[in-house]
Amino acid sequence: MIADHAAFFPARERNALPMTESTSKSESNSGRFYLTTPIYYVNARPHLGHAYSTIVCDAIARRKRALGIETWFLTGTDEHGQKIERSAKAAGCTPEEFATKLAGEFRGLWDRLGLTYDDFIRTTEPRHIRGVQHLFATLRDRGYIYKGSYTGQYCIGCEEWIEGPPGTVCPIHGIVTETVSEENYFFKLSAFERKLLEFYEANPEFMGPESTRREVVSFVRSGLKDVSVSRSTLSWGVPVPGDEKHVVYVWMDALANYITALGYGSDDDQKFKKFWPADVHLIGKEISRFHCVYWPAFLMAAGIAPPRSVRANGWLLFDQGKMSKSRGNIVRAETVQEVLGADALRYFLLREIPFGQDGNFSFDALVQRYNGDLANGYGNLVSRVVNMVHKYFGGVVPEAGAETQAETALHANADAAIATFGPAFDELNFSDALKSLWALVAETDGYLTANAPWKKPPERSDAEHAKLQARVLATAAEAIRVITALVYPIVPDAAAKVWAQLGLGELVDAAKHGFLKDLAWGGLKAGTKFGEPSPLFPRAEKEAIERMQSLEDENSRTAVEAVSGGSVVEEAKAPAPAPEKQEPAAVPARPSVPKSPMTAAKPVAPLAAKAEAPTAPVAAAPVAPQAATEAAAQGPQHITIDDFAKVELRVAQILVAERVPKADKLLRLEVDLGTEKRQILAGIAEYYEPEKLIGRKIVIVSNLAPRKMRGLESNGMLLAASLEGGAPVLAGFLEDVPLGARLK
Ligand code: MSP
Repeated sequence: MIADHAAFFPARERNALPMTESTSKSESNSGRFYLTTPIYYVNARPHLGHAYSTIVCDAIARRKRALGIETWFLTGTDEHGQKIERSAKAAGCTPEEFATKLAGEFRGLWDRLGLTYDDFIRTTEPRHIRGVQHLFATLRDRGYIYKGSYTGQYCIGCEEWIEGPPGTVCPIHGIVTETVSEENYFFKLSAFERKLLEFYEANPEFMGPESTRREVVSFVRSGLKDVSVSRSTLSWGVPVPGDEKHVVYVWMDALANYITALGYGSDDDQKFKKFWPADVHLIGKEISRFHCVYWPAFLMAAGIAPPRSVRANGWLLFDQGKMSKSRGNIVRAETVQEVLGADALRYFLLREIPFGQDGNFSFDALVQRYNGDLANGYGNLVSRVVNMVHKYFGGVVPEAGAETQAETALHANADAAIATFGPAFDELNFSDALKSLWALVAETDGYLTANAPWKKPPERSDAEHAKLQARVLATAAEAIRVITALVYPIVPDAAAKVWAQLGLGELVDAAKHGFLKDLAWGGLKAGTKFGEPSPLFPRAEKEAIERMQSLEDENSRTAVEAVSGGSVVEEAKAPAPAPEKQEPAAVPARPSVPKSPMTAAKPVAPLAAKAEAPTAPVAAAPVAPQAATEAAAQGPQHITIDDFAKVELRVAQILVAERVPKADKLLRLEVDLGTEKRQILAGIAEYYEPEKLIGRKIVIVSNLAPRKMRGLESNGMLLAASLEGGAPVLAGFLEDVPLGARLK
């Protein structure tokens, strides 16, 4: 029976978690803390959705370090699997080249945003590959992995088997799943049903938020079947040790990063011994099943302690849909950073979105929060106080003297903020933590206004006024010190500037020495020499929104992410139909993505059949300039048979047809080519009712380079007779023809 972590790791106390422990308990802990982000797929460049999880982890890591806790913060990239292999192929380069460029994009962005990860793991690194093979071999040696074969529906977007008949559409990605048949290794997940339930029961803090816990528990209760943990129709992965025609299933490969990065399976596993089990795996809600069911089961099977907790964040939405590359509705972190700074982004994400829930991102809301809370709130308060200390006291903190009722009240409010901020933050309730801290910002502002140290009433003597100024400014400066110390993990750049202006030196150094551990009122001593005032959050005008919008419009209009010739390039997009050009982001193709990630798919049982692997879609090779010139020289009306042979025309059947929101002319089609399914966008919405197209056999140009319209990728072009002044007529057949048949 799996009772709790102590059964695995009796030597290490369950100290730093659960996250719901009070601040005093976790803060008084001089233990260690290991937290991780999900590792990001390198099939596309990072966007705000990815930055969100990483920023949350960075804030947690900064706070833990500032509390004097030895912290290890891991992030990285997930580089194997069919999705990456196909993206690389479409971009005309090797998976290695593709992955290296994109991993560089992620790492580069994290550095640019100042994120303080301790390690960045790539799943293509030897240290990881070795560790995955060690894990696989251990599971096999312990009798938890066996060989079988399976036919089922596979979603490449999820890199996951989806339950349902051929033609089933993935509820997350909205694309038709592929029928895949292969010989696989299976993991005996079914053996862990009871053990997992007991484990959840014994460790109520293991997963959160509550909605995730409920979904996971009911998923496990509904019965676990064994899962396939290898692929034999793909080579871009970690070879199964001893049977190299198989690669390890990408999710087992990916999950293992949390231990391989610590040296699991290597000669030097000191870090693994020191930091495992992880205190928090921070993940997006749609991958909770992998982290709360498969991962602990793999670990239990290998005799390794499961992580202490998994916490799922909600989705960042933009234009009503989950922000994602496939929907084309992304905003890049760089855009916000460039216009308002990284702190503004961090503050907005943590204040605006209650952790665990979905949250809307909009430039308007961002600027409103920025101006209200940062420019007019905290920034303005700091600037008023620092400037007055310079003006009235030559930049030296005066002696406050005895507290009056007003100071006692502010002091009590600051004590209350210290007491409430930590526990709320440690429960990942960042929004409430900040709300309570901003109450102290407002109280300090109100205290200043009520005592008006800049105004001397005629009845007050000079000496009395100087005393009041000293008391009020020293007290307000102390309140700012407390606010700044607490908010540091969330707005580290601004906090460092304020710390220096308060004459307290380098905040980064202070953080290294655990300055938050003993945070209490009264730390700013009289006689401290202030630094020079410097602006923190200049007010954002309307142009800031326009600038961010135009940066994103520009990016989505003119750039398609691609990797070519070994370097990431911005490739000019084929011109989109005129009315669509304005829109930077497409509304999701499928509006009803279920909120519950647990309903997306079920684990699968091995079946007997074995068939050919599906073929990957191949992007058309660009015509070499020389060949194009030759063709032109022959005259526009003639082409050679070789030229014609370059165009691959195939029979396809329409499985799904629907209008593209806000695009009058476009239909989004999912078509079946027999060996694969594709998404195609066609400008026929004015002439064909989508419902009437379903099931119809058509002809498509199947080797046309993919292009993007309204943020959606079109993989091919359908053929229609183009009648001058009339409606186009789709090409079709009178006799029955098999899907995928080539027209020559
Ligand atoms: N590679 C897997 C994770 C393996 S972890 C062992 C994966 N990668 S991903 O790139 O698709 O997503 C990585 C993380 O980014 C996920 O937690 C996902 O939820 C998060 N996000 C991607 N888009 C997001 C939003 N729009 N909003 C919030 N988080 C989002 O899944």
